[in-house]
Amino acid sequence: MSDDNATQPAARSPQPFPIVRRAVQADAPGVARVVARAFKDKFHPAFGTEEKAIRALTPYVAAEMTRRGNYVFVATVGAVVVGSVSVSTQKSFVSGVAGMFYRAVGFWSTVRALVVLSFLSDPAPAPDEAYVEVLGVAPEYQRQGVGRALMIAAEEMARGLHKQRLTLYVTANNRAAQTLYLSRGLRVQRQTPSIVGWLLFHAPGFWRMEKRLA
Ligand SMILES: CC(C)(COP(=O)(O)OP(=O)(O)OC[C@H]1O[C@@H](n2cnc3c(N)ncnc32)[C@H](O)[C@@H]1OP(=O)(O)O)[C@@H](O)C(=O)NCCC(=O)NCCS
Repeated sequence: MSDDNATQPAARSPQPFPIVRRAVQADAPGVARVVARAFKDKFHPAFGTEEKAIRALTPYVAAEMTRRGNYVFVATVGAVVVGSVSVSTQKSFVSGVAGMFYRAVGFWSTVRALVVLSFLSDPAPAPDEAYVEVLGVAPEYQRQGVGRALMIAAEEMARGLHKQRLTLYVTANNRAAQTLYLSRGLRVQRQTPSIVGWLLFHAPGFWRMEKRLA
């Protein structure tokens, strides 16, 4: 007699789909972890190790959540943050960044990080613009629809704020993100080559992309 368990494929529980919601302060360590890992190409040159990047980014992310005109979203599976994105509507600054980094990783790592990260500063959004920043998904959750779900949340936020345009920058060789943005209706406005980007982040330049929301 055959053994059913041996012949039938094991029943697979479906992968739980992440919930997307506004971030709260308690999410800061999880967001820092996702960002440090998803943007390894940026934060490894800045901090040297993933562990240092997470330590330094945790207080920074918590402060970013309270920055004026900035809306942070997370995707979670259970209690775990698996992705994050920010929608910025005005230029405002997190104060005391040097102090935060210094307390987390010490003097020389702070100097290094501030120099490297100064090349990644974001532009000031215009009044009709919602600017998408740091969309990142934990590597083990990529290609499961999390990035798309976060982009939908970002766009809904922008529409809710009555913005006319959704904008962002993406590095010129980031095919995964470019494909996602094109599929969401963003179009390339201009392409800018960057020698510094190439030397520091192996990114030969960046694209400015935009979607009209009206
Ligand atoms: C870019 C990123 C956020 C995409 O998130 P994700 O959850 O993996 O994306 P999704 O699963 O929602 O994919 C949506 C669509 O994007 C495109 N896409 C995503 N990853 C892709 C890849 N590696 N190659 C080609 N297309 C890709 C596909 O069209 C995909 O749809 P499909 O799976 O039905 O074909 C993720 O790869 C990431 O965190 N990368 C590192 C950080 C980063 O580069 N962020 C963008 C900064 S501008």
